[in-house]
Amino acid sequence: MNVVATVKDMQARADQWRRDGKKIAFVPTMGYLHDGHLALMKMARRHGDILVISIFVNPTQFGPQEDFERYPRDLPRDLKLAESVGVDVVFTPSAEEMYPQNYQTYVEVTEVSRPLCGARRPGHFRGVTTVVAKLFNIVKPHVAVFGEKDYQQLVVIRRMVQDLNMDVEVLGHPTVREKDGLAMSSRNVYLSSDERKVALRLYQSLMKAQELVSNGITSAAEVLQEVRSILAPDDRLVIDYAEIRDPETLEELDEINGPALLALAAFVGKARLIDNIVLTPRS
Ligand code: PAF
Repeated sequence: MNVVATVKDMQARADQWRRDGKKIAFVPTMGYLHDGHLALMKMARRHGDILVISIFVNPTQFGPQEDFERYPRDLPRDLKLAESVGVDVVFTPSAEEMYPQNYQTYVEVTEVSRPLCGARRPGHFRGVTTVVAKLFNIVKPHVAVFGEKDYQQLVVIRRMVQDLNMDVEVLGHPTVREKDGLAMSSRNVYLSSDERKVALRLYQSLMKAQELVSNGITSAAEVLQEVRSILAPDDRLVIDYAEIRDPETLEELDEINGPALLALAAFVGKARLIDNIVLTPRS
């Protein structure tokens, strides 16, 4: 496995692989890898001859009051984990390499970036799409894999790829969960053991919502009322949003007559956690 830190070196390798007719599969990450990331890598491994991952905590997707400085980092551990799943190249640029002085270009997807995390984290998706577009130009992948836990991010990236005619196949990987249902996230490290138990309410409320919808409830308001009562019976969890939206357009839904995205964001202690499910009504 090789570790590459410069854009020039990464692009030269990608060009050579493409000349050799190799298919490049790519998983962008911000590091502090967990089994969720490794599952994306294993999936990408099956879709390409060469597997590249990036590890880059992207400053442009964090707001001024957010956790950029304290975001967990452990490169030596990440490299061992990446090697264990057959990664060929880890691209680990510095912030200066990605955003040199006088940098001034940003990619913005409008409609689908607006609700949910877009409304609560102004500029977040502009940072994500900008860095992902740059990474695609640097790694030149044929296929890229993203987790469905960041559901809105996946929708936004698919929109960008389609709108800008990027020649990259985007694949989503189902959310990877701990045995008790907690969605894996690098930010789970912020949770104390008591907070971790409280965080389980996200998964429990998603399961309850699916149960209601399977039992024939179609009113989004009714489902959301139950979700809120499971999430926040006390102030150890603060709901940031709990919304039911169209899984493709992300427009708000009043009635659940087909697949419907239930998206949650909540603060537990210092951690802001997100989770989601695509609810499917009984047929
Ligand atoms: O999902 C993430 O870890 C990040 O948003 C991504 C896609 C690596 C861009 O920085």
